[in-house]
Amino acid sequence: MNTYSILAKKRDGGTLTPDEIRFFIQGYTKGEIADYQASALLMAICINGMNADETSELTLAMLQSGDQADLSSLAGIPCDKHSTGGVGDKTSLITVPIVAACGGSVAKMSGRGLGFTGGTIDKLESIPGFRTALTVEEMVNYTNRSGLCICGQTGSLAPADKKLYALRDVTATVDSIPLIAASIMSKKLASGAQAIVLDVKTGSGAFMKEEADSVALAEAMVGIGKSAGRRIAALITDMDQPLGRCVGNGLEVREAAELLQGKSADDRLYRLSVELAARMLALSGLGTVEDCRVRAGEAVSSGKAFEKLCRMAQQQGGDPRALEQPERLPQGKFSRIIKAPRSGYLSRIDTARIGHAAGLLGAGRVKKEDSIDLGAGIIFARRKGEKLQAGEELCRICAGSEAGFSAAEEAILGGMEISDCSPVCKELIRQVIE
Ligand code: URA
Repeated sequence: MNTYSILAKKRDGGTLTPDEIRFFIQGYTKGEIADYQASALLMAICINGMNADETSELTLAMLQSGDQADLSSLAGIPCDKHSTGGVGDKTSLITVPIVAACGGSVAKMSGRGLGFTGGTIDKLESIPGFRTALTVEEMVNYTNRSGLCICGQTGSLAPADKKLYALRDVTATVDSIPLIAASIMSKKLASGAQAIVLDVKTGSGAFMKEEADSVALAEAMVGIGKSAGRRIAALITDMDQPLGRCVGNGLEVREAAELLQGKSADDRLYRLSVELAARMLALSGLGTVEDCRVRAGEAVSSGKAFEKLCRMAQQQGGDPRALEQPERLPQGKFSRIIKAPRSGYLSRIDTARIGHAAGLLGAGRVKKEDSIDLGAGIIFARRKGEKLQAGEELCRICAGSEAGFSAAEEAILGGMEISDCSPVCKELIRQVIE
């Protein structure tokens, strides 16, 4: 076996053996296989694909390239959720406290936002003092004490993915279902959860724009999870409009905290957060999905889930008062109202453009190293399908400086369509893959 023969085999549409996949990933991680050879393999996989066994082997090889979080000392079955990334998706801030309030155990590692999608770690860092750089030991201790902890991924988790992802980004090889599935699942499996719920987004603000591609990705990831012996399910959910009313880090924390306090709730955000929690609880063996759905709703209405969110903030050094007094969260000093240019129904939202607009305001990153404005973002007054008059408020933008306002306004108005006919709004939860 050698690198050249593996490349030639995949180039010609062959099926790689587990040994060949392991040889390649180990060699690449150690620096014994060059970037140009790894790029060639990635392109061959992009063009010729991988079958389910190859994809599982690739995931395991990437998983074994680094450390794996040992959650065996956690009480109960450690469960986790993962979203493939969307705009305004703050469900982790709501779902994780609900699961903890219902007796589940969530020791979660999350990522930062990149491109048009937001990241849970940036959102949490808008709570003054909140520490996201924890050791696995701290994560386990906090979860044993309170049922929940959310922190950043340690650098030693799936290093092969880190190297390969950087290469994919510059070689036009990101868009490949086996490569995406192996990348996501190697990190998820390495972070130690035994029960995993995947939220695979579909639509204009998702990585996968077409539902069939989202389903194929979900099936690949569920297959990988099962072959690794994990309990796993995936929801295919709508991302043809932002999730909830706010996009932007501090604003999204405020929206999540208000929902958990029963102050105001966007219906779609509430339903998805409760459904994800119910599925996590059911996979953890804590009841049927139907029972868990009822208990998840009660955890919100009783305020117990909000108490868990405050507890998590406090144990990770954050100021829990910021969750009840939103003026303690970062807020943009400047704001501008964007008005509807004509009357009609808000019929289409190019959600990726909304994510880009939030980035222009300073709420997101183009490169990993970019700093962000935690108080910047967009607050929507209207949702898809609603009727409005010319001159009515569509949304409000805010930031610490007005520098990005005109470009953001242009992106938002260019990404929204107002028409004479009421549009068909697709289901929020399209499918469940178990
Ligand atoms: N997110 C990941 O972690 N990996 C991919 O390949 C795509 C999205």
